[in-house]
Amino acid sequence: MSAEEVLGTTGVARRAVDGAESQRASRAWWDADADDYLAEHGTDIGDVDFVWCPEGLREADARLLGEVAGRAVLEIGCGSAPCARWLAGQGAHAVALDLSGAMLRHAAALGASTGVPVPLVQAGAER
Ligand SMILES: C[S@@+](CC[C@H](N)C(=O)[O-])C[C@H]1O[C@@H](n2cnc3c(N)ncnc32)[C@H](O)[C@@H]1O
Repeated sequence: MSAEEVLGTTGVARRAVDGAESQRASRAWWDADADDYLAEHGTDIGDVDFVWCPEGLREADARLLGEVAGRAVLEIGCGSAPCARWLAGQGAHAVALDLSGAMLRHAAALGASTGVPVPLVQAGAER
């Protein structure tokens, strides 16, 4: 079942929302869409890779971040966290943050299967 079917999304509307509603809606969407997102894009983004965009520009080639070894890096909106794992492989102290528990479950599974675990943090989670 697609995220649209799970959530009953019927179209686009514009109205003001506060931060809490925005967070709830984003989390609901990404929790529902995580499996489909990774089925569609997982091959392109890789498991331990830093791809900047759909055109396939890789940090390994572009080096837009400069030297990352020894640097503390927080990846916000990490999804399955391939970028954070790539950064860890380069010697960075990477932490991966996302608001979607479903995305972070993929990140945890890939951390285990690749042997490159990174600390995962759920944004807005109750403590
Ligand atoms: C298009 S996916 C990209 C995931 C990953 N960076 C990649 O390149 O595959 C966007 C991600 O951002 C997360 N996200 C959206 N809004 C967020 C927020 N306000 N705080 C943290 N994560 C957020 C979603 O849960 C989702 O995993």
